Amino acid sequence: TMSSEIARLLDTQPDPAARKGFETEMSSFMQTFSRYQSNKEHGIELDWDKIRPPPAEQLIPYESLKSEADLKGFSKLAILKVNGGLGTSMGMKGAKSALEVKNGLTFLDLTVQQVQHLNTTMRTDVPLILMTSFQTQTDTIRVIKKYVNHPVRILTFNQSRYPRILKESLLPCPKHAEDESRAWYPPGHGDIYTSLRRSGILEQLLSEGKEYLFISNSDNLGAIADPVILQHMIESESDFIMEVTNKTKSDLKGGTLVDYDGSLRLLELGQVPHEHVEDFKSVFNFKIFNTNNLWVNLKALKRILDGEGMDLDIIEKTRYTDNGKGVIQLETAAGSAVKHFKQAHGIIVPRRRFIPVKNCADLLLVMSDIYRVENGHLVFNTHRPFQNTPTIKLSDDFKSIEQFHARFKTIPSIADLDLLTVTGDVYFGRACDLRGTVIVAATEGQRIDIPDGSILENRLLAGNLNM
Ligand code: UTP
Repeated sequence: TMSSEIARLLDTQPDPAARKGFETEMSSFMQTFSRYQSNKEHGIELDWDKIRPPPAEQLIPYESLKSEADLKGFSKLAILKVNGGLGTSMGMKGAKSALEVKNGLTFLDLTVQQVQHLNTTMRTDVPLILMTSFQTQTDTIRVIKKYVNHPVRILTFNQSRYPRILKESLLPCPKHAEDESRAWYPPGHGDIYTSLRRSGILEQLLSEGKEYLFISNSDNLGAIADPVILQHMIESESDFIMEVTNKTKSDLKGGTLVDYDGSLRLLELGQVPHEHVEDFKSVFNFKIFNTNNLWVNLKALKRILDGEGMDLDIIEKTRYTDNGKGVIQLETAAGSAVKHFKQAHGIIVPRRRFIPVKNCADLLLVMSDIYRVENGHLVFNTHRPFQNTPTIKLSDDFKSIEQFHARFKTIPSIADLDLLTVTGDVYFGRACDLRGTVIVAATEGQRIDIPDGSILENRLLAGNLNM
């Protein structure tokens, strides 16, 4: 059975120092696994009829918050970036946050600049905490080691490493404690709460008098610690705030905040019964989605972890190994903790607080002249008449980060672009300028090379037309 296999795995860790942490990790894995099994047996299908949009008072527009903030709250704040994911959608093998995005600086460097700027302008000492995983730790440490003597305190801790589960037998993939990394996985950003406690950092923050934790994704450079939201959190005595934003057609998959039987919940696509998936994706029925910018009261967090515990909704993901075997990963989402906290609610924030990089089209946008950087912040190009971003669609040929860099010799200027669609085997030369609507479509077996310095304005390039 799973539990005897896990006991056997524990015995393969001879180092007594490492053994302790490994045991705690495996015992929380076992809890998740038993919950998963019992859900399977008893069914946890959501009762769709109980799902409603949250009541108005639990979804507050950012614009309605009091704008003059008392900056004292910053002395009780810590900032945390969840940074354990691999960016598999971009074919990455290390931390996405270690990618260079602006002026040779990585997401991590820009985040450090943001926090440094906050600390200098507010004359405060907000620590930056990075949650890494066994897959991203090396990259992260490589980037941040240059900040040892800088005016910003950076703490790091590793999230859990769980064994992948063979779908057929429901037994663990790894054969021993140090088995190859593909036998393990980081169990989603919901792991932050237990890992923060296990690392000792939760206690440390509380003992330093920190009360509020601002969590966001490491690839979201729009997630700046906002004094207005912090002030609102303090005044409303809310223990948990989720920043949500209005859905557009490109975020149909994001989790949404709903009222379930009178309590606030995060609803993820993976939890939605088949026949309601279209409902869920509809921009009309569910207008907002979770940005994963979360504000948590640390005292409340400790109370919950010590008391009732955090049973976050389990998201089951299936992956395939190189030899085609199905494996299961049981993951959780940080936002699903909303159901455990008092006075929890959502704030509908402007889109500029959510600038994710989920794929190479997002990356192109962030790297381009649509934004410039100021103190680590992305600032929208004022030259653009309407403050909207161009729509960019890149075909699968541009899917991996390697291909992306091979196919764009340098990042084109897109300050005047409305829409770009690229399909097939296309290469962009140095210093191109794309304006208006540009469509480049190479047919199967053909390759299109856009020469260095090209200006394409409202152009359709198709087939093997040479320029
Ligand atoms: P996502 O899982 O939504 O997306 O993580 P992703 O990292 O872009 O990766 P892929 O392409 O789906 O694999 C959102 C944030 O949560 C962190 C990631 O690092 C990212 O900042 N994360 C994700 C963790 O910290 N731990 C995890 O186990 C998973």
